[in-house]
Amino acid sequence: MALVKSSKLIPAIGAFSPAMAVFPARASSWWSGVEMGPPDPILGVTEAFRRDTNPKKMNLGVGAYRDDQGKPWVLTSVRKAEALIASQQLDKEYLGIGGLAEFSKACAELSLGPDNQVLKSKRSITVQTISGTGSLRIGANFLSRFHKGVRDVYLPKPTWGNHTPIFRDAGMQLKAYRYYDPNTCGFDYTGAMEDISKIPEGSVIMLHACAHNPTGVDPKQEQWRELADAIKKRKLLVFFDMAYQGFASGDIDRDAWAVRHFIEQGHNVLLSQSFAKNMGLYGERVGGFTVVCADAEEAQRVESQLKILIRPIYSNPPMNGARIASTILNTPELRKLWLDEVKSMADRIISMRALLAANLRKEGSTRDWRHVTEQIGMFCFTGLKPEQVERLTKEFSVYMTKDGRISVAGITSGNVGYLAHGMHQVTK
Ligand SMILES: Cc1ncc(COP(=O)(O)O)c(C=O)c1O
Repeated sequence: MALVKSSKLIPAIGAFSPAMAVFPARASSWWSGVEMGPPDPILGVTEAFRRDTNPKKMNLGVGAYRDDQGKPWVLTSVRKAEALIASQQLDKEYLGIGGLAEFSKACAELSLGPDNQVLKSKRSITVQTISGTGSLRIGANFLSRFHKGVRDVYLPKPTWGNHTPIFRDAGMQLKAYRYYDPNTCGFDYTGAMEDISKIPEGSVIMLHACAHNPTGVDPKQEQWRELADAIKKRKLLVFFDMAYQGFASGDIDRDAWAVRHFIEQGHNVLLSQSFAKNMGLYGERVGGFTVVCADAEEAQRVESQLKILIRPIYSNPPMNGARIASTILNTPELRKLWLDEVKSMADRIISMRALLAANLRKEGSTRDWRHVTEQIGMFCFTGLKPEQVERLTKEFSVYMTKDGRISVAGITSGNVGYLAHGMHQVTK
């Protein structure tokens, strides 16, 4: 009897209910209060690009490497590592919470250098993470839980768009220090030093280790030295984000110089690493998070807490990408091949910068485009104003983020002339 009664009250799925005529579907839902969120600024660019039917269209929004035909490139070292792994018929058991041990070890050696005293004395801990984003988020959560009441994180202005929600969602307070000078399209060294000198003791400062995103502007080694001293004086905790090791100069050691220098100067840094760009393992989600500690005993305590933090989020990281990266880093001939491939990617980007600048001159542009070749890494902050970006997209089907950032990796020898023409038309 009770059953019959309830079936009358609850209409079958798809059946019309008189209640529907009174309450619109939205108001009767659990999620009626959920507002529509804005589209992701970078992925939104790709969606608009896909809809465009112009055969000359260019997508310079997304930060992913393309070959000179504009196609995604899977590194030969990656293909070879995959074949080697497949031939071993390995099992697919869970990894430990901190990931694949041989990967984490190689990851830390790559950033800190294999002979680093920190590694020899075991006073650091590295866990495998879900690429750079996952690493930053684990780091942000760790800070939020353990950084004794200090909530302020100082980010360079501007910074990678995802830094803000990563730290905010972890419960940290966001602050900024000057970094980019729009007048020179270069590093605002004076502004950065001035701001840093006023940051309250104990705060966290985020530094891009190399190939700053979105500006492509890095401090020179001499400036890094001054920054390391100033930051030490203010007793700030340094969080390095290294998403592009090898991509800036083509040399993984040179690109890790700032991280190693800070550690040498006594900074017990946090470090996020990603293998998305330098191994082209974007969708495999391979990264590492390192905490440099005071001694080995502290490192063990930190490790235990990182595991407690990771366990309820994703339990343990995926193994496939870590196996690929680990195989490359730990197999001498694959490592050598990979280093050559990293250099070839960096070199192609550097040559596209030079070609773009040359083509702008050929177009007759009299503007100063020196920053196009002086900036490094995957991105160039062109200095184009939002209205010029809008025209470039509307009239030339060239897609980029509104701040005027272009991914130089998306330029080819076939389309650089077209891009230069468009840039000149909207800036002359
Ligand atoms: C500065 C910076 N940090 C971190 C990342 C993280 O990327 P992923 O999560 O794909 O490793 C990126 C990617 O664009 C980046 O530019």
